[in-house]
Amino acid sequence: MSFNLAARLAARRAEHLYRQRPLLQSPQGPKVVVDGQPLLAFCNNDYLGLANHPQVIEAWRAGAARWGVGGGASHLVIGHSSPHHALEEALADLTGRPRALLFTTGYMANLGAVTALVGQGDTVLEDRLNHASLLDAGLLSGARFQRYLHNDPVSLAKRLENATGNTLVVTDGVFSMDGDIADLPALALEARAKGAWLMVDDAHGFGPLGANGGGIVEHFGLSLEDVPVLVGTLGKAFGTAGAFVAGSDDLIESLIQFARPYIYTTSQPPALACATLKSLELLRTEHWRREHLQALIRQFRHGAEQIGLALMDSATPIQPIMIGDAGRAVLFSQMLRARGLMVTAIRPPTVPAGSARLRVTLTAAHSEAQVQLLLEGLADCVQQLRAVPNHA
Ligand SMILES: Cc1ncc(COP(=O)(O)O)c(C=O)c1O
Repeated sequence: MSFNLAARLAARRAEHLYRQRPLLQSPQGPKVVVDGQPLLAFCNNDYLGLANHPQVIEAWRAGAARWGVGGGASHLVIGHSSPHHALEEALADLTGRPRALLFTTGYMANLGAVTALVGQGDTVLEDRLNHASLLDAGLLSGARFQRYLHNDPVSLAKRLENATGNTLVVTDGVFSMDGDIADLPALALEARAKGAWLMVDDAHGFGPLGANGGGIVEHFGLSLEDVPVLVGTLGKAFGTAGAFVAGSDDLIESLIQFARPYIYTTSQPPALACATLKSLELLRTEHWRREHLQALIRQFRHGAEQIGLALMDSATPIQPIMIGDAGRAVLFSQMLRARGLMVTAIRPPTVPAGSARLRVTLTAAHSEAQVQLLLEGLADCVQQLRAVPNHA
């Protein structure tokens, strides 16, 4: 008997689904060095261009000098330090919620919130295209787990009719692989009508969306009652790392008591919280970043439409180009790379079978000239790809 990992890996290669890690040999930003090659990258989630910002780096440096480098223990033992606490208060203020609770990663925040709120006898209803961490959380919770049609309040309403126990409706705010924005007002209405709670993971909305970067909830002006459980991650537009859940005092106290991924892990380095406090300040006050990003999104969509690319219905920095076939998506990505452009091909199981795509992401650190270079590269590759049959 053997695990036969070699056969499993070979099958993955044959399906064009084998994943490899590009080696980044420079800081994050539009201009990177990957596997020894200088490239212009359009695939990170650093939407506001803060991951390599001098003031954020300085805040981290000063934080390390003052607080040391390690969290030292879990929050409930002796790992909850003043910078963590100050960051939680600033995040509560950003979200307009009474409190916020810091988690080490977004994956853990989602796992912690869902499993603390529902269990056997309860129901979790999730959008079909939710992020993997939300789907995993639903499955692991032990609650009855069902998915509704993508961003479809009518499909949600049908599922709500048969829900039992405490019911949690869970959705991405901005869908991570499609870039579209959840119809939160309608989803909130359905959830509230049935006494269910709506949980929103706005990992990709904080920063780009909302007048002050407060994400989808600010964008739609939704109350605590509409969205009782709000998740944000700090590794994307905030440019650092970690995540948070924002909500009522009772919610946060319950997570502190019952969310195992919160309780049984070492707190993030306090200096990281110092850096995030600085990036939060920049996110709220430097409106030019959101405005520039919006201008780049318009420029990209206009140019891509002229080339005839299959864009998705997205008004966010996530601008996927639908390809369909996984092998073809990889080939497209390789052709771009040969021209000095890096755009990742996203394939199943991250997206549904037959919907492989190039996931273009734009950031405030890009210039109009760089977006123009991307458009020219895409136009060249489209020409060349026309000569290549499917499953090439
Ligand atoms: C929608 C969404 N939620 C959660 C996560 C996980 O966050 P983290 O990277 O902080 O674990 C991601 C991606 O990383 C995401 O795209």
